[in-house]
Amino acid sequence: MDSRISARALAAALGGWRTREPAYEALADSIRLLCLDNRLAPRTALPAERELAAALQLSRSTVAAAYRSLRETGHIASLRGSGSVTLPLGRRDPGRVDPADGMIDLQQASPPAWPGLAGLMADVGAAASSLVSRVGYDVLGRIELREAIARRYTERGIPTDPAEVLVTTGAQSAIHLVSTVLIGRGDRVLVETPTYPHAVDALRRAGARLVGIPVTTGDGWDVDRAEQAFARTLPVMAYFMPDFQNPTGRSMTAHERSALLAAGERAGSVLVLDETTGDLDIDRGPVPPGFDTAEPGTVVRIGSLGKTVWGGLRLGWVRADGDLIRRLVAARPAHDLGTPEFEQAIASRLLARFDDIVTQRSELLRAGRDAVADALRVIPSWRIPHAAGGVSLWVELDAPLSSALVLEARSRGVLLTAGPRFSVDGGHDRHLRVPFTSPPDEMMRAAHVLSDAWDAVRAGARSTMVDAAGAVV
Ligand SMILES: Cc1ncc(COP(=O)(O)O)c(C=O)c1O
Repeated sequence: MDSRISARALAAALGGWRTREPAYEALADSIRLLCLDNRLAPRTALPAERELAAALQLSRSTVAAAYRSLRETGHIASLRGSGSVTLPLGRRDPGRVDPADGMIDLQQASPPAWPGLAGLMADVGAAASSLVSRVGYDVLGRIELREAIARRYTERGIPTDPAEVLVTTGAQSAIHLVSTVLIGRGDRVLVETPTYPHAVDALRRAGARLVGIPVTTGDGWDVDRAEQAFARTLPVMAYFMPDFQNPTGRSMTAHERSALLAAGERAGSVLVLDETTGDLDIDRGPVPPGFDTAEPGTVVRIGSLGKTVWGGLRLGWVRADGDLIRRLVAARPAHDLGTPEFEQAIASRLLARFDDIVTQRSELLRAGRDAVADALRVIPSWRIPHAAGGVSLWVELDAPLSSALVLEARSRGVLLTAGPRFSVDGGHDRHLRVPFTSPPDEMMRAAHVLSDAWDAVRAGARSTMVDAAGAVV
């Protein structure tokens, strides 16, 4: 057995699980959802019934009935003497869903590759002999690429030297590396809620205790709460997405940027700004990046070509002061020795044409966003917010049943991620992230499925249940 989840951690991950009667089935469903999201990996030992009952303030018989239901659907096995353990989810591998399976996968908000990418890869391939003439590892990244990244920051009004840039295998790798260097076990870290879940995973693994700052599609960042949280908890770090925040699509106002920077500086925190979605403007228009009056060492920026060009490229970077870059270079070899040269050579060429790429992206995202907003009108009780950019709509449901809806939609062939996955404290079951990066006809089909699934969930008439292999039982 590889890992174990405590009753407290499971209760936090379950959040507002009690969405239908009987309670034991609602609890079992929520645990199924954690297994489907891979938040509960296979071979994780679940807490003893008595401990989970205490953490959730339930009777032990309710938890026992939930575990029995999970055993019946093949999600867990219970072994005498060693408790209950989650099982592998059968049939499908844990990678991307194959469209040939007939499923519509809206779990990732990942646009298709920029159309010019294949041709550019072929050009770089044709010059491969000069590329492979280099010997050895380069943990920091190719100088040509670091110069191109530095130039782009400088053009945005953030003067940058190539020595202040480290190239990574995607923004996720950058978040992980920065987290391992800045965070010690038990340190406080401020994050938006809702937020990008894999950043939360990386922060938690680095030992962070997270403090959530609400962001809403209507009101943006709760600056008062953030100021109090900075002053009260003196976090070592805060992780923010100032532009087209994932999942809400909101961008910080100039006031929010300056207030959060000032609060962070007063608390002595490092502000890590994830700008992965920062160039995905549809109809907001350019705004000053802010956070530019910071003392050296206060602000770290993370960037990526994952959304602007292609997620499969796996190319990102960190922009930080020279001291932190040196600490990152020292820590990096424990988990990887650099970014592939081929992808870096492609990235240098992409950045030379970046303005055109971003313009094309904007048109694609506009078409996707408008199509999704249109398709979701089949469910008039949902509130569909406007997103001026980004990759998804953070839709407000008229009841806190996002987890139940996601299970029901899955049994009807549409895969989505429920609101609580984006929460740091288990809330947000009233929200659903709907990406607008899929083809419009697929979205239209998905919206009709969602509409039927919502009717069933609202009526408390979920007739279907998904077993561990994804089959309807
Ligand atoms: C906000 C945010 N940060 C980071 C990432 C990961 O980016 P990359 O593919 O460059 O690792 C994503 C991808 O979904 C994201 O939405």
